Amino acid sequence: MISNDLKEKLIALAKEAQEKAYVPYSKFAVGAALITEDGDIFTGCNVENISYGLSICGERTAITKMISEKGPQTKIKAIANTTKADIACSPCGACRQVIQEFTTPDAVVIYKGEKDYVAVPAAQILPGAFTEFVALEADGSVRSVLKGM
Ligand code: THU
Repeated sequence: MISNDLKEKLIALAKEAQEKAYVPYSKFAVGAALITEDGDIFTGCNVENISYGLSICGERTAITKMISEKGPQTKIKAIANTTKADIACSPCGACRQVIQEFTTPDAVVIYKGEKDYVAVPAAQILPGAFTEFVALEADGSVRSVLKGM
């Protein structure tokens, strides 16, 4: 778990980030802020596209910034999202899949629940997450089993 101070800090940073959101279509501005195992902080906002399916959520923007700045071994200790509408908003399924790829075993996900912000263990947010697959040779034989890091 994380301290209340850190939780509040991530929420405040996510709220700052939501001001940068590019949301001409949904008008639903989302901010995100994460802290890595090493104490580095990254923020992000949602960036929509006229081809709607190309829109990226705030959480994935922050994670993409984290990896591109700090490298592939970087892990998230806590990640928060906020919305300008200030309503309950848990991360979408796509973000949950991406979050679980990069979280430490004890990481938490912070979001606004029905009343207050909650800090939920990242390990619990996507039961049955996709975590391994089998790479096949052209003849169908198994080349390797690839597991998430
Ligand atoms: N969105 C996020 O950025 N994060 C979430 O956790 C939920 C949804 C964005 C996607 C889209 O730009 C807008 O909110 C409305 O779905």
